[in-house]
Amino acid sequence: MTSSQNGDPLVRLTGVNKWFGDLHVLQDIDLTIDRGEVVVVIGPSGSGKSTLCRTINRLESIEQGEISVDGQRLPEEGKALARLRSDVGMVFQSFNLFAHKTILENVTLGPIKVRRQSKGDAEKRARELLDRVGVSAQADKYPAQLSGGQQQRVAIARALAMDPKVMLFDEPTSALDPEMISEVLDVMIGLARDGMTMVVVTHEMGFARRAANRVVFMDGGRIVESSDPETFFNNPTSDRAKDFLSKILNH
Ligand SMILES: Nc1ncnc2c1ncn2[C@@H]1O[C@H](COP(=O)(O)OP(=O)(O)O)[C@@H](O)[C@H]1O
Ligand SMILES: [Mg+2]
Repeated sequence: MTSSQNGDPLVRLTGVNKWFGDLHVLQDIDLTIDRGEVVVVIGPSGSGKSTLCRTINRLESIEQGEISVDGQRLPEEGKALARLRSDVGMVFQSFNLFAHKTILENVTLGPIKVRRQSKGDAEKRARELLDRVGVSAQADKYPAQLSGGQQQRVAIARALAMDPKVMLFDEPTSALDPEMISEVLDVMIGLARDGMTMVVVTHEMGFARRAANRVVFMDGGRIVESSDPETFFNNPTSDRAKDFLSKILNH
């Protein structure tokens, strides 16, 4: 087996095509994400952003093309997939915490079951992570006792507990009340500063401007533009991106 070079992209999608029945949901996607890079994916509803995220950790299969993470091609299934999937942390719009487990248990479950860590080690690390996202005081509570913003920060800590190589965020603040959005974005900005490789689907353009190294604009299952945020926001080249930006920036 060849070991990956540090200069190689961490995530590479080559010629990826996916269909849902007749719907060609991902069309000829070529995308590479470097180590430590923060890529913000934006685009209209239905353009394939969530599907793109879900293919990166094989929650969805693809019909054509290749996806690799850290130089390893993603297998279709089996134990190797489970291991590689845990290299990819995912945070969804709905926080998906286990309602009948405490916050601490939510964060330690994966490391104990999948990573085979001892309970003690997993709890020590979980408390560090809960502290990092600012909810350490809630460790023994249940998800329903926390605000949405707190729950989403726990979901981030839970994903980090698996020591992922890349974190995917699919509209992580879309279900939150406005006053809780910034506390989640601040945690994400901290992660980006610490060098985490991140793919973030979001409508938060302030976050994109502040934290993204690159903005990828999708429409109709295609990547229509891919550029640095400065260029994307000030000089979008496609009519579709111009149209999208005028709609979201002028309301
Ligand atoms: N499991 C599915 N089966 C069939 N169609 C789907 C499925 N998931 C998503 N789609 C369709 O694929 C398109 C892209 O969806 P999605 O990736 O969720 O877009 P976005 O996240 O950009 O809003 C939409 O037309 C959606 O209705
Ligand atoms: Mg979506």
